[in-house]
Amino acid sequence: MKKRRAFISAVGMYVPENVVTNNDLAFRVETSDEWIRERTGIRERRIVSDHEANSDLSARAVQACLDNAGVSADEIDLIIVPTVTPDTMFPSTACRIQEKVGATRAWGFDLSGACSGFIYALATGAQFIETGVHRKVVVVGTDVMSSIVDPEDRATCVLFGDGSGAVLLEPTYEETGLLDFLLRCDGSGGKYLYMPAGGSKQPASLETVKKRMHYVYQDGRTVFKFAVRYMAEASTEILKRNGYTSEDLDLLVPHQANLRIIKSVADRLGLREDQVAVNIEEYANTTAATIPISLFESMKAGKLKSGDLVVLTSFGAGFTWGSTLLRWNI
Ligand code: ACO
Repeated sequence: MKKRRAFISAVGMYVPENVVTNNDLAFRVETSDEWIRERTGIRERRIVSDHEANSDLSARAVQACLDNAGVSADEIDLIIVPTVTPDTMFPSTACRIQEKVGATRAWGFDLSGACSGFIYALATGAQFIETGVHRKVVVVGTDVMSSIVDPEDRATCVLFGDGSGAVLLEPTYEETGLLDFLLRCDGSGGKYLYMPAGGSKQPASLETVKKRMHYVYQDGRTVFKFAVRYMAEASTEILKRNGYTSEDLDLLVPHQANLRIIKSVADRLGLREDQVAVNIEEYANTTAATIPISLFESMKAGKLKSGDLVVLTSFGAGFTWGSTLLRWNI
């Protein structure tokens, strides 16, 4: 009997209209367009306006995805929302999206995987399709990093942007769609990238606010080193265990955290430039949204076509990391 698999049948994205350039940031903190471009590859990022919350962006990305699929919201069974910047601690952003798009039959939940959230959620959603429990699962990687980045810290405020990207998962009995995933986490890396306060370990107080503990802290150099190593290792392994080499790969869609990280991963895999999706210059690091946004833009640019062999790879806070192998078929 043929195996039931999940495949991505549509993609949609939404980013805020407000563009913040490197020069805009240089007015606020001690930095320069030259430093940011050279060290990260970033030119600009989108940042929400005062009235925009995560679910305002993500509901639009989901709606765009459904429009592209020609599917109505009441057909959705499940909404999974990888994010580290929910509208509120509870209720979940998934519930807010459910209401905004009118997904009357759906259930849903948020998933905490930081920058690897999208590939974690993709693997989770695929299980509900493969087991026959559901027919239509939406995964929307979405973050408003500007809500947790210290605007006065030049080492982090230049790196992030806000945005959302959604995919629809549906079943297929062909040898296509999500073929394999390799996911890992290692909590010993937690101290290198985290938000110190606001959870049960260090609840919000006047003191935590004064000490700026509700912002992202990171040891950039350590994160950089592990990101390159683990994304390259996971991608090499997933190709190998499925009988492929990097020559068979049509497109690597890496998490967009730093152009130098992406280039180092591509070098380790021996990939040509045209085998790698890059859009960090425009959006910076949108955490859980970078991969679905890249998928959407790669398709639009004709870089991602039906039949292509694709690897998604990510690394983020936790540490969390992994790779997904797909045969693209839109
Ligand atoms: N402008 C100018 N100078 C700066 C800036 C800035 N924006 N930021 C840092 N500097 C300075 C530092 O203060 C330092 O100065 P010093 O030598 O006088 O102390 C110098 O530049 C070099 O700093 P480094 O941190 O060593 O610079 P590096 O080349 O490592 O680049 C960066 C820093 C861009 C943060 C890099 O380490 C990186 O990208 N790391 C990975 C980050 C990442 O991937 N995060 C993603 C995960 S996010 C998530 O999961 C939610």
